[in-house]
Amino acid sequence: MSFVRYEQKEQYAVATIDREKALNALNSQVLEDLNTMLDGINFDEVRALIITGAGQKSFVAGADIGEMSGLSKAEGEAFGKRGNEIFRRIETLPIPVIAAVNGFALGGGCELSMCCDIRLAAENAKFAQPEVGLGITPGFGGTQRLVRLIGVGKAKEMLYTCAQIDAQEAYRIGLVNAVYPAEELMDAAEKMAKRIARNAPIAVRATKKAANDGLQTDMDAAVAIESSLFGSCFETEDQKNAMGAFLEKRRPDPFVN
Ligand code: HXC
Repeated sequence: MSFVRYEQKEQYAVATIDREKALNALNSQVLEDLNTMLDGINFDEVRALIITGAGQKSFVAGADIGEMSGLSKAEGEAFGKRGNEIFRRIETLPIPVIAAVNGFALGGGCELSMCCDIRLAAENAKFAQPEVGLGITPGFGGTQRLVRLIGVGKAKEMLYTCAQIDAQEAYRIGLVNAVYPAEELMDAAEKMAKRIARNAPIAVRATKKAANDGLQTDMDAAVAIESSLFGSCFETEDQKNAMGAFLEKRRPDPFVN
């Protein structure tokens, strides 16, 4: 039995972290199930992935505190490293990933949402990095992605205070892209996934790679990365189809992978 349910729907897929009795907290098994889920994505068919949590209350309430409580220094480091590897895999997946944050996104839950490309939140979502209150630092990328996403000052406030913020505040500071009534969240996420899936898949993948790789380097190298990926789109069926359709004043044929 897996703690991650995976459902492919036409050209996008939904992965649901399902350990509801522990508010979807991430123990080692859930992390490995996430990794296995990533192994199983058919990129010839799936053009966007949605990650959400089971139930009405929680996206992911963090890494599993019970499991972490007894770890040695070396085991703690290995646990963080494994989570970072898997979250980095999500971040660098060739297709866009949308986090549908349906409740608590605390610690590792907030970190999971941040390795996704886009965060959509339900009105009841709550975000925090409560680690320093538990005697640890964030360990699944929180110290790095939060400062990049919302800016150093606000991020350090969240990281040092453990303060929980609600969905509207998360929206105000740019941590989430949009907020929806809870019952509308998945429809909104699926609508966005379908919208992404309608566009030229080669170009969407190249755009994600350009944005991600460029963020890791200086502007001269970043625009060089963009030029190369831009060039790689030419002579593809997608590019010929889309530009030809524009010139002929018609809609492009559906894009093939
Ligand atoms: C293990 C957890 C858990 C967690 C909730 N549960 N969060 N178990 N790890 N992170 C379990 C509870 O123990 C409880 O199990 C059940 O889920 C329901 O939770 P309650 O506390 O009874 O619910 P409620 O009173 O509504 O409070 C919800 C809550 C609270 C505010 C989300 O559960 C909470 O504060 N959880 C911890 C949040 C947190 O600190 N997360 C960050 C962890 S550190 P039982 O068996 O009692 O029913 C982290 C580090 C990441 O994430 C980096 C690692 C390298």
